[in-house]
Amino acid sequence: MTPTIIGAGRVGSALAKIARTAPLSRGQSWAKAQPGPLIVCTRNNDLAGVIEATPQARRADLVFIQNGMIEPLLQDHGLLQNTQALVYFAVSAVGEDPVDGGGTVVSGPWAQEFQSLLGQASLGCTVVDPHSFRLQMVEKLLWNCVFGLLCQRHNASVGALVRDHGAEIRSLSEELQGVAERALELELSPGVAERLCAYSMKIADYQGAVKELPWRNGWFLKQESSPLHAQWLAELGVQ
Ligand SMILES: NC(=O)c1ccc[n+]([C@@H]2O[C@H](COP(=O)([O-])OP(=O)(O)OC[C@H]3O[C@@H](n4cnc5c(N)ncnc54)[C@H](OP(=O)(O)O)[C@@H]3O)[C@@H](O)[C@H]2O)c1
Repeated sequence: MTPTIIGAGRVGSALAKIARTAPLSRGQSWAKAQPGPLIVCTRNNDLAGVIEATPQARRADLVFIQNGMIEPLLQDHGLLQNTQALVYFAVSAVGEDPVDGGGTVVSGPWAQEFQSLLGQASLGCTVVDPHSFRLQMVEKLLWNCVFGLLCQRHNASVGALVRDHGAEIRSLSEELQGVAERALELELSPGVAERLCAYSMKIADYQGAVKELPWRNGWFLKQESSPLHAQWLAELGVQ
């Protein structure tokens, strides 16, 4: 089944090439798209517009691949059961092939089709149940928020942070893990900071930053103004 790819940016162009289809750009309608998954390859800030432009009868087919906390948005639109993927391949520019970092997971009604699409390009992807997906989504969110903030705080790569600032990584991870667990009523398995550090060492030269605030660090702040997080963001002039 050929998927419909919404968004002709980096990821959308790469997935469309794998699916041998043309991605839909802004302004093109997918109201008459063929049956099958509608893979949304836009940034988080464009998601609401994409959902609202999708005919009600096709909304269950939307597949979300965005980083960050999109649950409140999905909940507002009654789409919490939709297919979601946590993407661990990187596409650096439109037209480039994806580079697989390993660990991509997908959950939901179109999970098998998403997995098989990635498989056509030898990109790994595991189908998981919604609860496992949620736990992994929260860990990726923690990684983005903890390492983004600390990279900016120390003007350092993620690998340098692991080497030189382990105590700050642990304190901030534990603090934000607590915020997420209370807000989402879930429990992550022990060893979160160690897993975040191990992932960082796989891409040690990457330097993150505080990005997409409402979908990442801002979501934590909205739940609780926890002390280290609030203080270090304020020191960076972000809030
Ligand atoms: N790049 C990666 O390696 C990577 C890896 C993991 C996850 N992701 C996630 O994947 C998502 C997409 O990332 P990206 O890097 O591909 O972003 P991108 O290069 O900025 O592409 C986003 C595309 O979506 C288009 N768009 C926005 N609103 C639209 C609409 N209503 N209808 C159709 N197209 C629309 C944009 O068009 P305009 O130019 O007109 O705005 C743009 O071409 C993000 O949430 C990102 O976090 C990316």
